[in-house]
Amino acid sequence: MPRLWDLSKGLLFRLDAEKVHRAMIGMVRLGRQAGGLPLRLAAGPLPEASAARANVLGMPFRSRVGLAAGFDKDAEILEALPELGFGFAEIGTVTPLPQPGNPRPRLFRDPERQAIFNRMGFNGAGAAAVAARLERARTRLPGDFRVGVNLGKNKDTALDDAAADYARAAAPFEGLADYLVVNVSSPNTPGLRSLQSARALLPIVAAIGEVISGWTRRPPLLLKLAPELEGVALRELIEEVERAGIDGFVLTNTLGGSFRSNGRELEGGWSGGPLTSRSRARLLEAREATKLPIISVGGILSAEEAGERVRSGAQLIQIYSGWIYRGPGFPAEISWKLAGIQRDSGA
Ligand SMILES: Cc1cc2nc3c(=O)[nH]c(=O)nc-3n(C[C@H](O)[C@H](O)[C@H](O)COP(=O)(O)O)c2cc1C
Repeated sequence: MPRLWDLSKGLLFRLDAEKVHRAMIGMVRLGRQAGGLPLRLAAGPLPEASAARANVLGMPFRSRVGLAAGFDKDAEILEALPELGFGFAEIGTVTPLPQPGNPRPRLFRDPERQAIFNRMGFNGAGAAAVAARLERARTRLPGDFRVGVNLGKNKDTALDDAAADYARAAAPFEGLADYLVVNVSSPNTPGLRSLQSARALLPIVAAIGEVISGWTRRPPLLLKLAPELEGVALRELIEEVERAGIDGFVLTNTLGGSFRSNGRELEGGWSGGPLTSRSRARLLEAREATKLPIISVGGILSAEEAGERVRSGAQLIQIYSGWIYRGPGFPAEISWKLAGIQRDSGA
């Protein structure tokens, strides 16, 4: 299967990246409709459930390997993800109202660096539609497959009104989201990263808190940060939001940068290779600053790197670029590696 993926990649990478993404979503849905066997064959064998399972954020996870936010923004392929070897998925970023995102082209690849560049800009169907899809998917998902919902604000909402937008985005997910994520770290919504300060975050955390405190089960609330936030600033922010009631962290989002396309310099965010060392460094810094659970994401392009993240204190890991470059067998490969680490540590 890896060889087959290498051959297909050569062809697929010559086509427009967003069209290939849509085609992949369509193929995964077909595989699922065909009973899931094609997906299970593509993903390869998984370790036994007992060797892969983990307890994090107060609940069992089927495995520590998750699909990062941005791949299945609108919850279109959730039911297929357990068959593809994932233990959890983060859908979104979900905004209160549907929005088209930035003009195309807005997704590019740099295979030499195993990198992806995107300037999507929170394109999506909006919170109500995504929640309805998640509700339908829930009945067909295994009970220990976890779904996180990554929350954002609409582009046209003023930064001063951001807190209300995050609360509105969360509202339809009662009883559906296993965890929620405040995303203030995408480089593709103007001004969003300026919300990465305690002053801006506390009202956001409070507004979401007000919505979810009335729910029968209050899901944990995590914060996703940018790789550029480091050192003292990162430590201080972690300490302040922890006091405000944040339950964990997702580290990291994409690295802000630019990409030259047809003679134009486009601003956006880098995933994959350019993120590996930065994301690992942020994990180590954050692990010093907090005991709360951390989901490590960014440039995990080998099972060894996934193992390193867990050894460095990550409870869960997520992949996006690694799935594209290493192919459908990658989640299972990581699961075998992590199961080995768990066995060796006697955990
Ligand atoms: C095309 C694309 C879209 C993304 N969209 C989102 C998003 O909507 N919300 C978010 O929090 N992260 C988003 N991300 C960031 C990923 O969740 C992840 O943090 C990042 O890609 C680093 O992981 P990787 O190196 O394994 O790709 C997106 C990434 C890509 C490549």
